[in-house]
Amino acid sequence: MGKSVYILGIESSCDDTSAAVLKDTRVLSNFIANQDVHKTYGGVVPELASRAHQQNILPVVDTAIKNAGITPDQISAIAFTRGPGLMGSLLVGTSFAKGMALSLNIPMVDVNHLQAHILANFIQSSETLKKVPEFPFLCLLVSGGHSQLVVVRDYLEMEIVGQTIDDAAGEAFDKCAKIMDLPYPGGPLIDKLAKEGNPAAFKFSKPRIAGFDYSFSGLKTSFLYFLRDQLVNDPDFIEKNKADLCASLQKTIIDILMEKLIEAARKLKIKEIALAGGVSANSGLRDAVNSMAVSKKWKVYIPEFRFTTDNAAMIAITGYYKYLKGEFASQDISPVARI
Ligand code: KG4
Ligand code: ZN
Repeated sequence: MGKSVYILGIESSCDDTSAAVLKDTRVLSNFIANQDVHKTYGGVVPELASRAHQQNILPVVDTAIKNAGITPDQISAIAFTRGPGLMGSLLVGTSFAKGMALSLNIPMVDVNHLQAHILANFIQSSETLKKVPEFPFLCLLVSGGHSQLVVVRDYLEMEIVGQTIDDAAGEAFDKCAKIMDLPYPGGPLIDKLAKEGNPAAFKFSKPRIAGFDYSFSGLKTSFLYFLRDQLVNDPDFIEKNKADLCASLQKTIIDILMEKLIEAARKLKIKEIALAGGVSANSGLRDAVNSMAVSKKWKVYIPEFRFTTDNAAMIAITGYYKYLKGEFASQDISPVARI
């Protein structure tokens, strides 16, 4: 056994400031400061996000290191999110990583946020080893900003075989939640309310898109028009039917996601199937994929709940694999909003 590698991960791409420490693939700490300021605005306000990151980053990193029970001089490298994300938010994490790497005289590793969501499937968090996907596996990456089907051939070798042509799945959850006057982010709330509702109560249109691509903007529109019509007859329609609306909407989104996932798995002949991204926290989606483990003999992998939404442990694990390959970033690196 070689010497252990300690990676400090920093994530600041959107509205959560997070830092984590990994010892090889094992998470020692993962600390997240959520930003409540956006709740009242029904979405993330970029200017407020970068300001909050600026305030949070030092205490968050400090806490992650303390919680890990290590000292800064033990850190082998600092991994940070380079993108995609909000430029002002990314700049805070990137600048902080640069300063810290310089002062500790250790390398830094730039990380693609989407790749990190996928590699969250490799994070170990307890003494008993979690089973991890075998290459090649097919990953359904569903977050607030992205919906992709990705063939993962190796830790750092990924190919996008399908993606949304408009809204992401998380956006569909969040935008429809907003239409129902639910606070941001709506995904977790819809998930919770759906448990009490009937998924067959209402029908919403599903898109017809070629290949493995997705589309969710039509669903949002049909949801909006449906509610607008109903509200004319009954101003309390949403309030009276909230659980059924959530259950039916969630079922439609999951059906859309599953249809292409099943088709891709069949055509590509892959039975190792993983989920990743914030929407993989959804209990209905988890159930749907798990049921395929039985009917289609898939081996299903889902990150631990706390590693599905944005977190720094996923940045650190990606940093770990890049560190092993010697893929470092130089001090003149800058963030990229779109990759
Ligand atoms: O991966 P993530 O934390 O951030 C991005 O990189 O976008 O994903 C956030 C998205 C939001 O749209 C949120 O509503 C959704 O994940 N989400 C959920 C659930 N938990 C988070 N959507 C449905 N059900 C959930 N339980
Ligand atoms: Zn994310």
